[in-house]
Amino acid sequence: MYKSELLAQNIRQLIENGSWQAHEKLPSLREQTQLSGYSLITVLNAYQELEAQGLLYAKGKSGYYVAERNKALPAHVPEVNLNTAVQINSAVFHYLKSMQTDGILPFGSAFPNPELLYNQKFMQLLAQHAKRKHSYLNNDNMPPGNLALRKIIANRYVLQGMQCTPDDIVITSGALEALNLSLQALTQPGDFILLQQSVFYGAWQAAERLGLQVISIPEHPQLGFDIESFEQALKQYPIKVCWLMLNAQNPIGFTVSNAIKQRIAGLLHEYQVHLIEDDVYQELNYGGQRPLPMTYFDQHRRVLHCSSFSKTLGMGTRIGWVHAGPFSDAIQHLQLMSTLSASPLIQNALVDFLSHHHYEKHLRHLRKQLEKHKKKFHQFLKQHLPAGSEIHYYSSGYFLWLKLPDQCDSFAVHQQMLAEKIGVAPSLLFRPENIAQNFIRLNCSYEWNADIESAMLKLCACIAVQRKSLTA
Ligand SMILES: Cc1ncc(COP(=O)(O)O)c(C=O)c1O
Repeated sequence: MYKSELLAQNIRQLIENGSWQAHEKLPSLREQTQLSGYSLITVLNAYQELEAQGLLYAKGKSGYYVAERNKALPAHVPEVNLNTAVQINSAVFHYLKSMQTDGILPFGSAFPNPELLYNQKFMQLLAQHAKRKHSYLNNDNMPPGNLALRKIIANRYVLQGMQCTPDDIVITSGALEALNLSLQALTQPGDFILLQQSVFYGAWQAAERLGLQVISIPEHPQLGFDIESFEQALKQYPIKVCWLMLNAQNPIGFTVSNAIKQRIAGLLHEYQVHLIEDDVYQELNYGGQRPLPMTYFDQHRRVLHCSSFSKTLGMGTRIGWVHAGPFSDAIQHLQLMSTLSASPLIQNALVDFLSHHHYEKHLRHLRKQLEKHKKKFHQFLKQHLPAGSEIHYYSSGYFLWLKLPDQCDSFAVHQQMLAEKIGVAPSLLFRPENIAQNFIRLNCSYEWNADIESAMLKLCACIAVQRKSLTA
């Protein structure tokens, strides 16, 4: 567990056992560093995490206070929903098309600001490889993919304490191919799969395309992942596969604790279920420590771990991978029947880029910039969003998850913003079920400027007008 998580957990305990009462002021950041021995940034992360969970609130410059509603947190009731005919592909298609409109401000995009991903060294290496005939020979790069690249990726798992050999890895065209092929390899039409209620739309799309029945479980309001609902779903339905995001979850942003990950692994084994883990934001934790993937907790090779370079070097690299273990062959079969292989040129350039430690330097810079930009958006929106809104802020990635006042329709907000050439991602894309749709995912990877400020003011005004019309 991270130091900030540990501190947040201790503070949560003091609130829950009544030692700290509603509206009581917490020690200042500096006092807390002295009391706990943690660094200022760790304390700040812990306070912000608790704020995002609704346990604390910040009052101007005066500091952090215990929030009222936590005196009596609503009793948590496990919940499971069944969706036998997912229909989302058309909505996602139209949304993605709308985001391609010329001049649209890209706060609805899933990808970080390309300016931050551009890396001169990587471009130089690409240019060098582009001049060699060898780079266009596909033989060495056919499934399971370039051996040198698979070795580097396998070593990164080993360095984090997991078992992995290059034979466990299949290189794919981005994480999306890794995820889709994994799901296809493990399921037949009509099978039951489990998804988080709010999750990357690619998961819902894959379920629709493959004719799968979806069991969804809602997020836990404090812990992100609802282990009780998860267990109930496994007991109640013959679930074959789970597709989960547990680190810097898209769209909400939370990272699930190691203790819960351990319990998930135990339940996967007990109920003989496989897990496809989508971990595309694993490198974007502001502390620089990569959160552990489920592969770390999995003693029985039930996890297929998928990631890519799209969020760190650009979605145009189209290189991802799956740590597929015993399913490597099945996935390669499907790949050879569909996309054949990922680009040999880019696989070769990545080998040079990664083996000379340029990547780590690039990641350090990227994380710092993302943290700076997201904090700026957060500060501004905290002051300007109308009453009844909430912001989920977590210390990784580049998304803020905004809860609009109850009854607000985020799809209508998205459409009004579109008319102003401002992109925002409405919750319907991530939670296409018949549930509250008053959430927006906001991409905050852009450097703050006057245009952004004016766009954010328009967004806040649009939400305020909706809220007023609802209360009128
Ligand atoms: C959560 C999540 N998983 C997977 C993907 C697909 O990533 P890639 O571009 O590597 O295929 C995305 C892309 O937006 C994503 O947001």
